[in-house]
Amino acid sequence: MIKIFDTTLRDGEQSPGCSMNLYEKLQMARQLERLGVDIIEAGFPAASQGDFESVQAIARSLKKTVICGLARCTKNDIDAVYDAIKDANFKRIHVFIATSDIHLKYKLKKTRKEVLADIAEYVSYAKSLVDDIEFSCEDASRTDLDFLCEAVDIAIQNGATTINLPDTVGYAVPEEYANMIKTVIDNVPNADKVDISVHCHNDLGLAVANSLAAVGVGATQVECTINGIGERAGNAACEEIVMALKTRHDYYGKDTAIKTTEIMRTSNLLQQITATRVSPTKPIVGKNVFAHESGIHQHGVLQDKSTYEIMDPAMIGLVETENLVLGKHSGKHALRAKLEELGYEVDDAQMEEVFVDFKNIADSKKQIYDRDIHALMLREYQKVSGGYELVDYSSFTSNGKESKTIIKLSDGKETIERVGSGAGPVDAAFDCMANIVGDKFQLEDFAIHSVTRGKDALGETFLSLRSNGQVFNGKGLSNDIIKSSIIAYVNAVNQQAQLQD
Ligand code: KIV
Ligand code: ZN
Repeated sequence: MIKIFDTTLRDGEQSPGCSMNLYEKLQMARQLERLGVDIIEAGFPAASQGDFESVQAIARSLKKTVICGLARCTKNDIDAVYDAIKDANFKRIHVFIATSDIHLKYKLKKTRKEVLADIAEYVSYAKSLVDDIEFSCEDASRTDLDFLCEAVDIAIQNGATTINLPDTVGYAVPEEYANMIKTVIDNVPNADKVDISVHCHNDLGLAVANSLAAVGVGATQVECTINGIGERAGNAACEEIVMALKTRHDYYGKDTAIKTTEIMRTSNLLQQITATRVSPTKPIVGKNVFAHESGIHQHGVLQDKSTYEIMDPAMIGLVETENLVLGKHSGKHALRAKLEELGYEVDDAQMEEVFVDFKNIADSKKQIYDRDIHALMLREYQKVSGGYELVDYSSFTSNGKESKTIIKLSDGKETIERVGSGAGPVDAAFDCMANIVGDKFQLEDFAIHSVTRGKDALGETFLSLRSNGQVFNGKGLSNDIIKSSIIAYVNAVNQQAQLQD
């Protein structure tokens, strides 16, 4: 059995544009539990109060999965992880230090002897708090092999139960990486009593290949992220590792505990939370992956799917009709049941609010899919209490003429109405917003995606506003893209106001 260690919420979240707030991380963590990952690395608690709180909330909320937090070799970091995860049913502390000479010389400014002493001291300190300890040799793939074995030996002697050997900079190639893993397994005493884990970055596009090569020589845990998000070129993609092991079971002979039918839903949720779309050709979850364009392929697939299809789309949860859920006549009962199925816990007061928003969407959209519900709930979570609220707006636009938008916002005490103009309706709407909230915000990023298909699909607007060196993200949801853009702007402004309070 290969353990799947998901680091979407830690290493993945470090990639630009992928930061998530507490509620988004909680939502993602619940979905990862449903997917069946063995371990969730929920964050790096010493990095910020926000990270600490997210790890703590996940540790308190999840029931089945091991919850892990990352720590450098310092007492402060390890204490922060322990405090954040101590309420989890199953908990792990992940301690790391770099072991390559390059990192020792330029980053840590430590000798090998000092690094070995740190490993002994901090692995045993972590072990005094929690039994399940993972130790990582950062930049393992560029570490001298004899020294790597010494470092691993000391970590095991001091209580590490998982040894992780990352290809931190995505430099390794499969045969070489597999050789490193095999050397450690064959030469370090008791290496067969612990889990040997791999953690590969994708700078040369080899993260999945390296991970699988390591599994081939005895690695028992793979670290990965959903959609392969992560630092620089990302991490090994969870869905690719899992489906490679499943599809080529004849070759690897290894299983995972992943419920593969949850893969698509997990990938979509992350794409929605981070407002980024994977490439259409992204293995497993890209939208072209199960499409057959060429006549020869179509003909073959019609005769027998196995001609050109190595995986059944249903295996990853790609069953269109299954996701068709609710409509305009669905009542609160049906909505609550659907929310529960999708992992959302709402109290009665929240349910009232969600139902009003659901009805608004249902009035303008015939069919409501799971992805619409996820988008709706993410927007609910993003609402900042207090602040501005959109009351009404009108937009006037025609070819070749300046557009005008009138917006009415309530600030809780009064309704403010202004006019804005611009090259198009969105430009005019943002000009109008600046007239209301002041021109201290610069638009950094702006994107609109349709949540599902069809001409009445919901449009999800994502934007970033910069003010005083800080960036505030806002999302808006509506099947009117001017409206979703205004809501996104209002949400970003409200976030800034809340942080200022
Ligand atoms: O890439 C890496 O080396 C890491 C470690 C902290 C595990 O992310
Ligand atoms: Zn990493």
